[in-house]
Formats: sequence, structure tokens, C-alpha cells
Amino acid sequence: MITVQEYLGEKGCEADLAELICLIAEQAGPIRSAFISHQRYATSLNTSGEVQAEMDTWSDTHITTVLAHSGLVSLIASEEQEKVYECRNSTGRYSVVMDPLDGSSLIAVNLAVGTIVGIYEGRSVLRKGNEMKAALYLLYGPMTTLTLSVGSGVALFSQADDGRYLLMEDSITLPEGTIYGSGGERPKWTKKHTSFITALEAEGAKSRYSGSFVADFHQILRYGGLYAYPAAHGKPEGKLRLVFEAQPIGFLAEQAGGRISNGSSDLLDILPEEVHQKTPIYVGSRGIIERLEALPE
Ligand code: AHG
Ligand code: MN
Ligand code: MN
Repeated sequence: MITVQEYLGEKGCEADLAELICLIAEQAGPIRSAFISHQRYATSLNTSGEVQAEMDTWSDTHITTVLAHSGLVSLIASEEQEKVYECRNSTGRYSVVMDPLDGSSLIAVNLAVGTIVGIYEGRSVLRKGNEMKAALYLLYGPMTTLTLSVGSGVALFSQADDGRYLLMEDSITLPEGTIYGSGGERPKWTKKHTSFITALEAEGAKSRYSGSFVADFHQILRYGGLYAYPAAHGKPEGKLRLVFEAQPIGFLAEQAGGRISNGSSDLLDILPEEVHQKTPIYVGSRGIIERLEALPE
């Protein structure tokens, strides 16, 4: 099995970008080690108004510090920081958007959580998702895995005991499938969402929803199906963030032949206006998303 460095070389990945991807992937070790001593909730709220888990802030500070000293990054937009972080006197070629710890409500119950990262070239973080140069997520499960795209398909790596990431699968395709997970409270779902989910269930779809977007998406990437966090009555924009969650995961989904939508159009074509803006998310099998988008509002 080849390493992620060898994979990036074979893909002709620009040297600084390859170095940045590997630097981010290397943070899985310190993050995993920090879980045992950071199990509690902090007393602070993030910009989305959510109580921060200790690991949210620990991971955010850790990754931001590593990137700020790398000389590879000029801006960092993080779910856990109100403002965009400007790396001091950096001529870094790339800007990074990140959800440093996704699924943090699951830390206390030892279920899979992850780190979601998108990388753009240049000094700006409000970009259309299809301009991304690389997207990845680290998944802290029984194995530590890296799911990565540099724009030529999706590859899966597992971290070996010596810290190297070894290629498990390349050119992963997101199949049509019959599992679905939907966030939000069913009584507050819109009529369109309720009837779509009900139709999938009537066709035999099975629910798979853990509370960790990155873990739930990883299942959809493998088995096909749908992850949704929809608009709801009183929450027209849903819960998840366009810049830190939807765009990187959506880039990976579309690189694997899947789709990401807000229910009516491709989320990767949307230019964010505000770093913390939220969006309804439907991500998964192309056929399912196209069927949803064809429904009348
Ligand atoms: P985060 O921990 O980064 O805030 O993300 C949590 C998100 C997402 O990972 C998950 O699918 C969703 O919130 C769960 O929301 P509910 O608890 O409302 O189901
Ligand atoms: Mn998240
Ligand atoms: Mn998070």
C-alpha cells in the first residue's frame, strides 16, 4: 500500500498543497490523544450559538497554531472562531476552512467524530465550493482514516501504528443506496421534506443517523443513500454551516459521483456571503438528490 505522500506525488499535487494536507493529517494523533482529558463542555458558545465542547476549542487551537506556523496558510476560517484568523506575515499560498471537531456531542459516548477541512488557493475563504483545491476529513473511529480529494477522485487512507497513512482505496464512487439520516425534529420538518423522507421509507430505506455528520456521511460514501439536515419551521437555514461542513463534504461527494444540494440547487455553486452562514443540506447518491430537486416546492 502506498502512503498519502506517494499518492499525492502520483496525482501531481503541488508541493505546498501536499505538505499542507500531510501536516493536517498528522494532527490526528494529538487530537485522538486529547480526547481522554477533554471530555467536558466548555462554558463558552461558538458563533453559531452552540455550547462548545472542550475538544472543539482544543482542536481548533491546536490546528490553528500548527497551520499558523507552517508558512503554507494565509487565512483560516473555523467553525469555532468568530473572525477569520489571519496568519501573521504569512505569504502562505492557501486559505483553510475547517470544522475542527465535528460531531462533538458524541465525544462523551465514544462514538466516531472527525475533523473536516477545505483548502482554497489564494487569500480568501468565501469561495464557491467547486473552487476548492483539496477537501478532506479525518475520522476518529476504530481506525483513524483520512478521506481525501485533490480534484481527481476520492481516496481513503488508514493510519498505521507508525503514523503513516496507507492507501486503502482510490477512486471511491458514491453508489445509489437505501440508507438515510435526517437531522432536525420531525414535527418541525417542512411538508416537502416529510413527504420525501416518507417516500424513501416506503421504498425500504433504513435510518442511519448518529449525530456526527462526518461519520454519517462516511457511511453514505460507502453504501449510498442520503444525509439530510433540512430547513425546518423556525429554522429555514437548517443547522449545518455552508463553509466549514457543506462545502468540503460536498466537494468530496461530487468527486465521488454523488451530489450535494440545499434542496433545490447544487451547494457547490453557491458563493457564501458570511463565514458562519447555515444552509439546509442534502448530500448523497446522485439519483436521490436529483429526484429531490425535481420535486415542486
Ligand atoms: P458539530 O459538532 O461540529 O457542531 O456538528 C454537529 C452537527 C453534525 O455533525 C451532526 O450531524 C448534527 O450537528 C447533529 O445535530 P442534531 O444533534 O441536531 O441531530
Ligand atoms: Mn460540525
Ligand atoms: Mn464542530
